[in-house]
Amino acid sequence: MPKHIGLDLGTSNTRMYIKGRGIVLRSPTVVAVDTQEDTVVALGSEAKRMIGKTPFNITAFRPIQNGVIADFEVSAMMIHEYFVRTEALSLFNRPVVLVSTPGKCTEVERLALENAIFEAGAKAVGMVKSPLACAIGAGLKINSARGCMVVDIGGGMTQATVISSGGIVTSKAIKLAGDKLDGAIINSLRSKRGLFIGDVSAEMIKVKIGAAMPGMNRGTVEVSGRNEQLKCAQSIHVSTADIYNAIHTALEAICRTIMNVLEITPPEIASDISDYGIMLVGGGANISGISELIQKKTGLRVTIAKNPMDCECNGIGKLIEKPNIIPGGILYKNR
Ligand SMILES: Nc1ncnc2c1ncn2[C@@H]1O[C@H](COP(=O)(O)OP(=O)(O)OP(=O)(O)O)[C@@H](O)[C@H]1O
Ligand SMILES: [Mg+2]
Repeated sequence: MPKHIGLDLGTSNTRMYIKGRGIVLRSPTVVAVDTQEDTVVALGSEAKRMIGKTPFNITAFRPIQNGVIADFEVSAMMIHEYFVRTEALSLFNRPVVLVSTPGKCTEVERLALENAIFEAGAKAVGMVKSPLACAIGAGLKINSARGCMVVDIGGGMTQATVISSGGIVTSKAIKLAGDKLDGAIINSLRSKRGLFIGDVSAEMIKVKIGAAMPGMNRGTVEVSGRNEQLKCAQSIHVSTADIYNAIHTALEAICRTIMNVLEITPPEIASDISDYGIMLVGGGANISGISELIQKKTGLRVTIAKNPMDCECNGIGKLIEKPNIIPGGILYKNR
């Protein structure tokens, strides 16, 4: 029997679901490649640990950007490796795969994703729009005529989507999410404190002491980097207020995207959303104070989903078990 699997290929993290078993893999979407030999030297957490520390011939990079394939061959190889590791693919068995795609992507991007999954060894591929998967995974009843809003703040992209009667009514996506917050922290420490830090340190600071509301105190962290003037290694202490100041402009842009979607939502559905509020999913839902900030800006109740980072993959999993949650079910292409 072929294994039926669900795949959430995120900019930051890849998750895989196997029918009957649940989520079996959570791994950073990072691949380290030896550019001279043209071979993959590390995947996932191991490759992520190499970012910014590789010798000249090795590059650690992300083959998926904002839900679409940035490097076809490396993506196919990574997916293949994950199929093998989770025993979804074997000599006699090729998996049936349901993958999520961004709410808005071009036909070319959709085909590239589908082909990469076939190349990785799949027997059949079906696709579902990621906001629907996120909403299902967060426990929203997407089939009801009552409108609902799901906001996914991931690593590469924020998507705000209004759903009603099993389909997307209005949606907006911006390429501003966790990675850009890390970038804002790097820029701020460089300009205000003269310290240049790497992506991995910036993400660590954001997770440890990041805050979306003024006046929050999550303590301080010591961070090491290169002093820009003295050109030597240096450590400094950074406070919650420093990080709030670095990221609040980006967080406000996320709030504006949500408000833009609300502005173009038909009034009947907008009134459902004002009754039932907004559901937050994705890694960005973990930022301290984010629900308060969105609540303050939109005037709507905001709920953070349970295990927000797993919602999309859990939603894909629910669709594998019950495809008719989406009107018309899921169409699979065979090869
Ligand atoms: N506790 C936390 N506080 C702040 N940010 C966090 C926290 N935990 C995770 N993140 C951030 O969430 C992001 C990853 O979220 P997620 O796994 O949902 O993204 P993704 O699905 O890979 O990306 P995308 O959906 O944009 O393609 C990263 O930027 C990570 O730093
Ligand atoms: Mg995601």
